[in-house]
Amino acid sequence: MIRLHTLGLVAAAALLATASAHAAGNKAEGRTLVYTCAGCHGVPGYTNAYPDYPVPKIAGQNEQYLINALNGYKNGDRTYPTMVAQAQSLSEQNIQDIAAYLSSLSPNK
Ligand code: HEC
Repeated sequence: MIRLHTLGLVAAAALLATASAHAAGNKAEGRTLVYTCAGCHGVPGYTNAYPDYPVPKIAGQNEQYLINALNGYKNGDRTYPTMVAQAQSLSEQNIQDIAAYLSSLSPNK
């Protein structure tokens, strides 16, 4: 009995550690949000079907980098018009979810 109780505590502690490591972003939510980004960024395939100008690879990018970049477009630090429009339609939670999802992808896909 004592042993089981200890195991339960260890499991709970492990769960807590996992939860705090992936703070606020929800990957499943992010996956649905990046649907509109894929036409340009080709997530997760990188092949940009259209338009045919260079588009940065964002799948597998660092989570905090993605949050900073999207906030940069949103607050005017970055000025690329289509991305400013995209970012302005995203809430702070959307940005966290998108970053959690994209950073979880393999950069080689
Ligand atoms: C109309 C095409 C288009 C769409 C749609 C689009 N993007 Fe972009 N995105 C670009 C281009 C082009 C750039 C490079 C802009 C620049 O030079 O600042 C970019 C840049 C970015 C960057 C910065 C990358 C870096 O390495 O600094 C991020 C992050 C990003 N986009 C995320 C998204 C997300 C998330 C969505 C969907 C909500 C999205 N984009 C939708 C074209 C697009």
